[in-house]
Amino acid sequence: MSTASVLAHVPLFMDLSEEQRQLIAQRMRTRRFRAGETIFYKDEPGSTLYIIVSGKVKIHALRGDGEEFIYDILGPNEFFGELSLFDGKERSADATAMEDTTTLLLEREHLLECIERNPHIAIHLLQVVGGRLRDADGLIQALTSLDVYGRVLKVLIDLAQEYGVDTERGRSIALNLTQSDLAGYVGSTRETVNKALSYYRKKGYLNVVRRQILIRDLRALQTELAKRWAS
Ligand code: CMP
Repeated sequence: MSTASVLAHVPLFMDLSEEQRQLIAQRMRTRRFRAGETIFYKDEPGSTLYIIVSGKVKIHALRGDGEEFIYDILGPNEFFGELSLFDGKERSADATAMEDTTTLLLEREHLLECIERNPHIAIHLLQVVGGRLRDADGLIQALTSLDVYGRVLKVLIDLAQEYGVDTERGRSIALNLTQSDLAGYVGSTRETVNKALSYYRKKGYLNVVRRQILIRDLRALQTELAKRWAS
């Protein structure tokens, strides 16, 4: 598939004319990363926007205690790297490919040129960045108001909603997540996450088979989370 036709599926560039997409496509380059490969590190300088064509990218950083904290997992047609591009500061987090991943790269000057011609791209960028800020607020609230069992519930519900695939046995979270990844998401340890998952499994809410989490009763998880927010 040509770069321009890939861009037709990327919300950021969807509204452009075919001719405009061709122009941007000429300014982009493709980079592929192997599963587990670092795309960039926190605190590195950077002025490139990455658009994910296929694969998954983990946005993360080390906590004070040396454990990993995951801010988000991004998938096809999503972008990252816009913060350094706009404010000229260092990367705010690490970005690592979780599976074999193909990205398109756009340099600052070319994105700005593109925004000058199509200002609604800036509006779209703001909408996405605003959405991420809201999610980050939700995360701060969860970290300060919920215990680990509650945070596990919140993350599972969020992931099921974003990445869940309906199967006859329930909603499968189609991410190759380890329990350490989940611990990184909820700001806890693998052992505690393991206990929380067993607890919800015994209640019949979910099943864990290797790295696949199968949500058997999403409604029950949501009700349980609502109770924990209220308590
Ligand atoms: P940048 O700071 O250039 O490099 C790291 C990138 O991770 C950042 O741009 C954003 O694209 C992305 N990022 C940082 N924090 C978050 C977050 N809380 N949620 C989602 N993406 C983030």
